[in-house]
Amino acid sequence: MNRAIDQVKTRRKFLQMLSASPLLSSGLFAGSFAHLLATGEVTEKKFLGWLNSFQQNEGVISSPDQAFDVMDFEAAARKALPPAHFGYLATGVDDDGTVRANREGYSHIQIRARRLINVEDIDMSVNLFGTKWSTPIVLSPVSAQKAFHPEGEVALARAARAKGQLMMLSTVATTSIEEATAAAGTPVWQQLYPTNVWEVSRAIVKRAEAAGSPAIVLTVDLQEGSNRETLFRAQLVDKRECAACHKSAYTGFARGRPKAGTGGFTEYAARKPMLNGLDLSKVTAVQPPNMNSRYRDCQAAPQGHCHAGRCTTSGRTRRGRPDGLESRRARRRDSSPDD
Ligand SMILES: Cc1cc2nc3c(=O)[nH]c(=O)nc-3n(C[C@H](O)[C@H](O)[C@H](O)COP(=O)(O)O)c2cc1C
Repeated sequence: MNRAIDQVKTRRKFLQMLSASPLLSSGLFAGSFAHLLATGEVTEKKFLGWLNSFQQNEGVISSPDQAFDVMDFEAAARKALPPAHFGYLATGVDDDGTVRANREGYSHIQIRARRLINVEDIDMSVNLFGTKWSTPIVLSPVSAQKAFHPEGEVALARAARAKGQLMMLSTVATTSIEEATAAAGTPVWQQLYPTNVWEVSRAIVKRAEAAGSPAIVLTVDLQEGSNRETLFRAQLVDKRECAACHKSAYTGFARGRPKAGTGGFTEYAARKPMLNGLDLSKVTAVQPPNMNSRYRDCQAAPQGHCHAGRCTTSGRTRRGRPDGLESRRARRRDSSPDD
């Protein structure tokens, strides 16, 4: 059947169903269907499959190719995941004011289309730390992805590879940087929760360096944890025995909430490959509470100019500078690598 006839038939069936279906007669989805057909990208078979599954699943997509936009995955995730894991994925801070504010903020950003421009070959490439990416869309670090899918970050890395996107790997990922890099087919960036122990921070950076990571993404906004009310509510309705997996009482954010387990940071880190094999006995937090901008400079300092994390300590040094930082000139003089 040629494509034009195919489309007409599909459209006819679509209209018949539209008038028969109470779901569609609401008009809520009709615009999207019509758009789908108008694009000419959909075959009758695909369309009917989509419609069946849509009706059976009360509006939840059952495969990625049914998604119109990224928000269609939210309902699918809510359906597929245990409540607490979905809560972790979906939560904002406090009463989710941050999520609302973000969306509201983005709604003010528009793409201004210029007309009569040749758009046959669009170059959206960006250069980041010596690598050219064909798209400016990057995958920011998201922890513990095996809580959402057995393949976790490996699946995400494969998706990044398929789309030519840069991936950032969380320190508390459930996949190692070596595995993620292999699946991505190119180095990933390592996100760093430095912890309060400099040697741990340094070991993560060194491991990332060895895996070819050209950049470290230092997270600076988890010093005091965060009050994730949507997560806490979801935890209350999740009837599973959380302590079966969450053996540790430590979490980076659940301030003052009921705790699942009894252990400390070492138990928490047991399922975090980037922390495996490290001495975590002195670690009490993923981010040092006294971290300041000098700490960042210290992290970024070339080898030999590192101050073993003393940048975060308060007080004055022998050289009379606050916060353990030596003067630039003193640093230049001091060429002995303490890194
Ligand atoms: C479930 C989840 C886990 C996250 N884990 C991390 C993490 O391990 N490290 C980090 O630096 N940011 C983490 N983030 C923050 C994201 O990288 C990102 O900065 C944040 O979600 C804001 O971007 P968005 O508005 O696109 O969601 C996480 C976010 C979510 C939703």
